[in-house]
Amino acid sequence: MRKPERQIIPYRAKVVEPISLLPYEERVRRIEACGNNLFRLGSHEVYIDLITDSGTGALSVHQMGRMMIGDEAYAGSRSFFEMERQIRESMGYRYTIPVHQGRAGERVFDFVLIKKHMIVPGNSHFDTTKAHIEFAGGRAIDCTIDAGRTSEGYHPFKGNIDIPRLESVIREYGARHVAYVLVTVTCNSGGGQPVSMANIREVRRVADQYGLLVVLDAARFAENAYFIKTRETGYAHKSVPEIVQEMCSYTDACIMSAKKDALVPMGGFIAVRDDLLYERLKAPTILFEGFYTYGGMSGADMEALAQGLREVTDESYLAYRIGQVRRFGELLQKFGVPIVEPIGGHAVFIDARKFFPGVPEDEFPAQLLCAELYKEGGVRAVEVGSVLIGRDPDTGENIRPNLDLCRVTIPRRVYTFEHLEYVADVIRSVFEEKGPKLRHGLRFEVEAPGIRHFASTFRYVRGADGGTGDLP
Ligand code: F0G
Repeated sequence: MRKPERQIIPYRAKVVEPISLLPYEERVRRIEACGNNLFRLGSHEVYIDLITDSGTGALSVHQMGRMMIGDEAYAGSRSFFEMERQIRESMGYRYTIPVHQGRAGERVFDFVLIKKHMIVPGNSHFDTTKAHIEFAGGRAIDCTIDAGRTSEGYHPFKGNIDIPRLESVIREYGARHVAYVLVTVTCNSGGGQPVSMANIREVRRVADQYGLLVVLDAARFAENAYFIKTRETGYAHKSVPEIVQEMCSYTDACIMSAKKDALVPMGGFIAVRDDLLYERLKAPTILFEGFYTYGGMSGADMEALAQGLREVTDESYLAYRIGQVRRFGELLQKFGVPIVEPIGGHAVFIDARKFFPGVPEDEFPAQLLCAELYKEGGVRAVEVGSVLIGRDPDTGENIRPNLDLCRVTIPRRVYTFEHLEYVADVIRSVFEEKGPKLRHGLRFEVEAPGIRHFASTFRYVRGADGGTGDLP
């Protein structure tokens, strides 16, 4: 018998975008000018941009081709019907409402489904998801399994919902106070960790028992399906499209940020089975997003989205995608860099408290790491830790999250493994040269009110090149 085929890269470059690396002194000057907040850098100042996998992927020739035939009609665009047809075919939902991105879908959906004091149990809700639930007067209750709350130890599905916890939360608040149960695949806040099919099926069983809706945050649905195929017993011989169908079959609706697994720069949708719910979603869509057959998307966008949904479940694409992220993480592990395990689908998360063991937790080790990676190699990563989580609204104290992470996020179809080897080398240099040495990190220069992640500025506690603690 022939041995298995080698791993292949299932695309090649047809168009390239030039990128360049500024000299070291210039990088130091620019990051200081931005107050050590990487959101404030222009992308022209960045060499390898790993701040997010959202909207940063490369379009295919087929997507570009279809964009040319986009129908820009205000109402009932042909491109809308094509997108709706594709969503029905791929995911099984009868009705689709386009929106301009994931959070817009959350806004519309929660406006209709959440009343004051209602709850939305789920698995580590994404930040905007949680914020929209709260904005609508509800509360997000995290029911992720315990194994998903630590950076150590292997569990194949760290995104799973703790079923007994879900049941006890429903009983505690009463089913009529549960707006819906949300399953996020893969679980971004938990490190890109997948949810198993068995777990989604169990969530459905519990929801049926209490007459509740199950909603999928489908941003990375295809990556989740690929993990089910490769990790869950009984799915190795199923195709990814079949697995996606089954995942969706246990849910009543999905909210989708198409900027991830629909492979488009901008777009999203809400998809539902129930015609009454569909009718209720129309009015807020018109108010917040636009008529319910375009919802903030152009016809060209909707064509690209429909095509992206077809391409993303291609198994050679997913094998390369998930494999690239894994190999990058394994390279970091080889260098001894502390990362969250197992490696997730779209990013590698560095545990900054372990990376800089001498830096006090209140001096933002993960933010410090992001600034250092930029200076060392023009790499832009993002802090997912103390800065992001903010202050306790009641006490005003900084919340100390379980983990202070630096997320190195891999865009889809954009960088080669050579780019990632460069990034790994940059991380290694900072780790070896500064990891054990630094004794100080950053403090706020200006702490922006509200979502402080984006606009705040920071200053090094000891000098521009990081504090070793040896200085007078
Ligand atoms: N749900 C999940 C799981 C997400 O990761 C995101 C966005 C959203 C919803 C919101 O979608 O950005 O289209 O409004 N995540 C991006 C990120 C921003 O960098 O992880 P959106």
